[in-house]
Amino acid sequence: MSRRARRSQEWNVRASALARNTHNLIRNIVDNLQVEPNPDKPFIALSIGDPTTFGNLNPPEQVIQAIRDSVELHTSRGYAPSKGHQEAREAVAVYSAHQGDISAEDVILSSGCSHAIELVITVLAECGQNILVPRPGFMIYKTLAEGLGIQIKYYRLLPDKQWKVDLDDLENQINDDTAAIVVINPSNPCGSVYNKEHLSEILDIASRNQVPIIADEIYEHFVFSGNEFTAISSLSKDVPVLTCGGLTKRFLVPGWRMGWVIIHDRHNILGREVRQGLANLSTRILGPSTLIQRALPAILKYTPQSFFDDVLLFIENQAKLAYAELLRAPGLRPIMPQGAMYMMIEIKISLFSEFKNDLQFVERMVSEQSVFCLPGRCFEYPNFMRIVLTVPEDALREACQRIAIFCKEHIDMEEKCKEINSNIIQVTNETEVICNN
Ligand SMILES: Cc1ncc(COP(=O)(O)O)c(C=O)c1O
Repeated sequence: MSRRARRSQEWNVRASALARNTHNLIRNIVDNLQVEPNPDKPFIALSIGDPTTFGNLNPPEQVIQAIRDSVELHTSRGYAPSKGHQEAREAVAVYSAHQGDISAEDVILSSGCSHAIELVITVLAECGQNILVPRPGFMIYKTLAEGLGIQIKYYRLLPDKQWKVDLDDLENQINDDTAAIVVINPSNPCGSVYNKEHLSEILDIASRNQVPIIADEIYEHFVFSGNEFTAISSLSKDVPVLTCGGLTKRFLVPGWRMGWVIIHDRHNILGREVRQGLANLSTRILGPSTLIQRALPAILKYTPQSFFDDVLLFIENQAKLAYAELLRAPGLRPIMPQGAMYMMIEIKISLFSEFKNDLQFVERMVSEQSVFCLPGRCFEYPNFMRIVLTVPEDALREACQRIAIFCKEHIDMEEKCKEINSNIIQVTNETEVICNN
């Protein structure tokens, strides 16, 4: 077509297929909520997974000082190698020694954990392949993969077994096009923490089917008393594991956007190509902020254990508080988390005949009680809602009490009685069976 002919046509500037096919489910739902909070009650958002929102949780002085020192360095202003400065990558390798035998060569710095996830998905999967993701799980996997034509296939987590993986379902989802299994441990949104035995069961499936694992461990060490965090890479005998982590949650600095990928590949299954692929992909943004990179060695070395302990104790107490309060809410079933900073709550929607689904339930709760919880549909997991536990204690208590009032006001008493009766019948039958035996 001649330049002249082209000029005479209408302009036609379009967004790319990648842009058009990139969707963030949580943003779409939250931004399109059609309700206003009750003006007589202060609004409490239990929906935001950002521990800095309320200003009650802050990084320790050592972390702030590390940034002050970094600002002064002229080397914190220039570009770094796109995989990250050597000292910063060495510091991550030392900090992550519990994951396995790693060196700076196995570490690639990224702009937050989400960017680490993007790197590992893009290095392992092609358009037309699929990755297996837990449901309910963190939805960024869908946001990142679908635009690239990579299919998300969900495997089931079991709410009645502390959100353990339904292993049969996981294995059944694997096919010739499966490029990776994503394991989020501890989990957003479930707050589950898997023990060694369960992680080994997942590894066995990956090994049998020769599928690498993407381990999302952004909540590593974020576990409540009585639970233990184990890096899945530390248990792997043969399965290659790409672990995604970062400063975000444990150090309470999500906005600093500092994350990393750690390559665990004892048997060199991924080979040079995948390593080189990750290095290539890191050049797309020329690496994360060098201000934070320069501070990273001091942040990782000097943050005192007491800081981590205090934050965890606070969150665990919040979990206990929310759990106790929500047990008083008829028609809800809170599931006590073992770590991370969230709690999932089942809404027995059949007991609330006014509402068709979790979205209607949470919307009405906003308009009447000014409390907002993230509806389960944000995780493609209906009839649940997620709350965050990092809000100040008073706000959490107040919010849970309002949730309980809301449930009492809206529960269908007839349905509730039927449920109680059926429970009694079940218990009676079970008792009879026990007595007769
Ligand atoms: C499981 C999980 N992975 C990754 C991320 C992203 O972390 P970042 O803010 O460092 O990108 C989050 C954030 O909420 C998360 O919950």
